[in-house]
Amino acid sequence: MTDPSLARIKAAHDLSGDLDNLTQYYRDWADAYDADVQDEGYVAPNFLVDCLQQVAGRNGVAVDLARPSVEVMDVGCGTGLVGAVLKERGVQPIDGFDLSTEMVDRARDLGVYRELWGDQPLEGVSERVGGRKWDVSLACGVFTLGHVPPSELSEMFRLTKPGGLAIVTTRRSYADATDFVDEVERVQARGEAELVDRVLDGPYIKEEGAHYWAFRVAA
Ligand SMILES: C[S@@+](CC[C@H](N)C(=O)[O-])C[C@H]1O[C@@H](n2cnc3c(N)ncnc32)[C@H](O)[C@@H]1O
Repeated sequence: MTDPSLARIKAAHDLSGDLDNLTQYYRDWADAYDADVQDEGYVAPNFLVDCLQQVAGRNGVAVDLARPSVEVMDVGCGTGLVGAVLKERGVQPIDGFDLSTEMVDRARDLGVYRELWGDQPLEGVSERVGGRKWDVSLACGVFTLGHVPPSELSEMFRLTKPGGLAIVTTRRSYADATDFVDEVERVQARGEAELVDRVLDGPYIKEEGAHYWAFRVAA
């Protein structure tokens, strides 16, 4: 029997990274997105924030989450599932952007974000925000098949303050089908960032696990 929530999640992986297709797909999916991913056991936002809390507490990482203000950028924030977990755990202020204005409208309704931008692709965003940088940048479910290519990892680092943290998820299938693992080596060889933690095949969604990659951005 076809599982309609899973079918909608899978269909999103066939969008070939085409920004118009992605925009249209998420415009139509925005209302049903939260219920669909909940049905499919999407635990990535919680696990990603667990990773952030573990890595930020380590020696040599200059991000202190206990500080009253740690600026977080939620890249591809969608309906705000990551923002909701961050707020619950007392990490703020949280800003976010997404390609889809309709997804961002749902995130705005939560009232947990300070600033939100819709109609914003990751590609080239660091220039559009005028070089502004955040202590932490997170991308949950964005480096995924049919969405954003591994080469955009550098754009995450450009959004992050020197010494700050950038953490991204990659579904197992994405890491297997792309050169993401090689890109992790390349960004380190270019001195852009250092991989400070990695969880392989961690909990993500019922259907499959994901890798979680935490980088300290070069000072
Ligand atoms: C699977 S959803 C994840 C949303 C949210 N981070 C979460 O964990 O629920 C992927 C999100 O990435 C956004 N997206 C896809 N391609 C993008 C791009 N090139 N730049 C920015 N956002 C993008 C989509 O609009 C969608 O909201």
